[in-house]
Amino acid sequence: MGSGGDGLKALLCGKGGCGKSTLTALIARSLSDRGCKVLVIDNDESNFGLHRQLGLELPDDLLNFMGGKKDLIGKMMEAFPKGEKLTLFDQKWEIPTIPQGYVSRKDNLSLMAVGKIHEFGEGCACPMGALAKQLIQNIDLGDDDFVLVDTEAGIEHFGRGVEEGCDVLFMVVDPSYESIRLSEKISELAAKAGKQLYYILNRAEGAGREILCCGISEDRIISTVPIHESIFKAGLMGDEFLTSVPEVDVIADFLIELRSK
Ligand SMILES: Nc1ncnc2c1ncn2[C@@H]1O[C@H](COP(=O)(O)OP(=O)(O)OP(=O)(O)O)[C@@H](O)[C@H]1O
Ligand SMILES: [Mg+2]
Repeated sequence: MGSGGDGLKALLCGKGGCGKSTLTALIARSLSDRGCKVLVIDNDESNFGLHRQLGLELPDDLLNFMGGKKDLIGKMMEAFPKGEKLTLFDQKWEIPTIPQGYVSRKDNLSLMAVGKIHEFGEGCACPMGALAKQLIQNIDLGDDDFVLVDTEAGIEHFGRGVEEGCDVLFMVVDPSYESIRLSEKISELAAKAGKQLYYILNRAEGAGREILCCGISEDRIISTVPIHESIFKAGLMGDEFLTSVPEVDVIADFLIELRSK
């Protein structure tokens, strides 16, 4: 489904703290347990914990491969006023050919980090958005490969067009008024981007689930993940997710099914 072979590129979004990174790591684990190769793209410039949930080292920022933030801003400033297309990659990458140092790997799992905020006053995260957008488009996938993109909270990535190279979007919805409101906006933005949007209800059970379902059509809800003590504990300690979560396996199965369509 994705560019290249028949793999698939999925992006997870949602409000702050709804469980995007947790679910990205859990889905990646579940897909990899099913024999699929998974590249996780960490596109959250502010959080530093996703690699631990995957049991991987934090790779160097891809931004450094591009010469660093200042260089990239320079390229953007050169291209945009002239109406030229910004081209950051001179050749396609496959998961095994991602340059060393900018990917960390274990078994079927690979992780890339687009760029993190490291210094006080270093400037905005716009270059990371531009880079993430092109990186996702630049990865060619084999038939059994998946890309999972973990995003920063909110909808700025839509503004930057990060979704363009993705085949499918998942909004993680937790039981909060903010999430309900955001789901309306994200549904509108996904439609404008021409992308399929599905929902994962997280930490939602009983009455919370019922209220969430009022505004979201049931056939778009792929899974409802309850609060799991094992997830909570691993999240608190910064431990690798090792326990399989049945409600997450459902999402992995859905992705595998979607890929073969
Ligand atoms: N189903 C769950 N059961 C128990 N704890 C959970 C569950 N989902 C998420 N959590 C916990 O909720 C917290 C927030 O999750 P997470 O960091 O994945 O959210 P996020 O959407 O990625 O946040 P951010 O917007 O900061 O990137 C973490 O401590 C995580 O361990
Ligand atoms: Mg996160």
